[in-house]
Amino acid sequence: MRDSLFELAPVTEPQRQYYFIENAASLIKLREAELLHPMTFHVTTFGCQMNAKDSEKMTGILTEMGLREVGDEYGADIVLYNTCTIRDNANQKFYGHLGTLNGKSHRNSDRIVAVCGCMMQEPDCVEKLKKSYGFVNIIFGTHNIYKLAELICRHLTGESHVIDIWDKPEEIVEDIPTVRKYPFKSGVNIMYGCNNYCTYCIVPYVRGNERSRDAGEIIKECEKLASEGVKEVMLLGQNVNSYGNGIEGSLSFPELLKEVEKVEGIERIRFMTSHPKDLSDELIQVMKASNKICRHIHLPLQSGSTRILKAMNRRYTKEQYLELAAKIRSELPDVAITTDIIVGFPGETTEDIDDTIDVIRKVRYDGAFTFIYSPRTGTPAASMDGRQSKEWIKAEFDRVLNAVQEESKAMAVRFMGNTESVLVEDVNEQDESLMTGRMSNNLMVHFPGEHSLIGKIVNVKLTECKGFYYMGEMV
Ligand code: SAH
Ligand code: SF4
Ligand code: F3S
Repeated sequence: MRDSLFELAPVTEPQRQYYFIENAASLIKLREAELLHPMTFHVTTFGCQMNAKDSEKMTGILTEMGLREVGDEYGADIVLYNTCTIRDNANQKFYGHLGTLNGKSHRNSDRIVAVCGCMMQEPDCVEKLKKSYGFVNIIFGTHNIYKLAELICRHLTGESHVIDIWDKPEEIVEDIPTVRKYPFKSGVNIMYGCNNYCTYCIVPYVRGNERSRDAGEIIKECEKLASEGVKEVMLLGQNVNSYGNGIEGSLSFPELLKEVEKVEGIERIRFMTSHPKDLSDELIQVMKASNKICRHIHLPLQSGSTRILKAMNRRYTKEQYLELAAKIRSELPDVAITTDIIVGFPGETTEDIDDTIDVIRKVRYDGAFTFIYSPRTGTPAASMDGRQSKEWIKAEFDRVLNAVQEESKAMAVRFMGNTESVLVEDVNEQDESLMTGRMSNNLMVHFPGEHSLIGKIVNVKLTECKGFYYMGEMV
């Protein structure tokens, strides 16, 4: 039966995967008859929005196979981990989960453990799993997540350990089933991979070269999402500003935004991430003319020192960055600018950190993520000299964090008294009578309201600024 199952499979995608979803469903039914209970799954996602989106696709595949999603990671029959390797603490977190999983017995001794994502694109990590975590049954990477049903079929028909890792991406496969985490907002991939090779960063190695998705497919997905009730889309890419580069006849990123703007039912458009070297005047003008594009630009700085930026291969100087930020502030005064900063890059000195803090003071970030540099095997920075001591890094990290927090607190106040349109996302975690919503500028506001407001866009008057968020009243 095994041979014919694989021999009869269609060769074209996504038909091949729908075939395996159907067959996996039958195999699971057989197994359920033996187990005497319906089979469940749990997906744990580490890392960024790209991984979150991949996990929604894999949840879609597992659901189509007839499995039920459960909240209990350690009790599920199929446990899937979608890993991240951007910094070492992401890797450690994953090993922590695996250790706990291994320690917990399961009603069904042959629970299936599957692991995929960015970490699995690193040969050392796969070796470690093979050697020390023999209970992991299925290992795959970032380029073949759409093949989950096929990999599960291989396992269910007798392969106890299935390992399928591609070092390069192949075609972009469209129309994979998806189960979205939120009914009212969704990420939409517009490109995959990255070509920038910032010297500290592992992403180009684990996600492959930059590939833009066809604009027609992107619009089709947005239309489908709108028809399902989605109000807010977030266009996802490691460097959205280079969308379409190198593809003859492709739309540019600002042109793509204009097309998404035309999709009826989509009321808000966000995007992530903008590389400063590619953010065009055209984008600023498109944002200015739009009433759907949210008032938020995430513009990673990484360092304010031109010398360190050069060593990072960021391809802009401190002055160029400041000029760009000033242009955004003057053309789009209500836009919130947020950023990412790395502290402790090899060779970094106190003067370099002074430059970073100078940029923080001048740009006045509305928010920032600050990271301690983490060497990634195989990246150029990992073999650079001049690593500072832990103590130095800790002290400089705190100095950067203080500057960022002072500025963002001061910046948040500027919206006080405004009436803002807010997408209601959830019930407040601490107080059931309050609802939590997100403003266009990405700030959160809590206000009294009914649970039925979730997913709606309402107007909220901001009555009290609590530092990084607001309290308000619906008007
Ligand atoms: N494509 C995005 C960033 C993706 S990674 C961009 O270029 O802006 C998200 C953030 O993680 C980066 O902006 C960077 O600040 C941080 N980061 C990446 N590699 C890191 C490393 N090796 N150590 C510490 N932080 C890192
Ligand atoms: Fe990494 Fe740089 Fe690409 Fe961002 S642009 S994903 S930091 S290599
Ligand atoms: Fe992590 Fe991969 Fe995203 S390394 S940050 S999950 S692209």
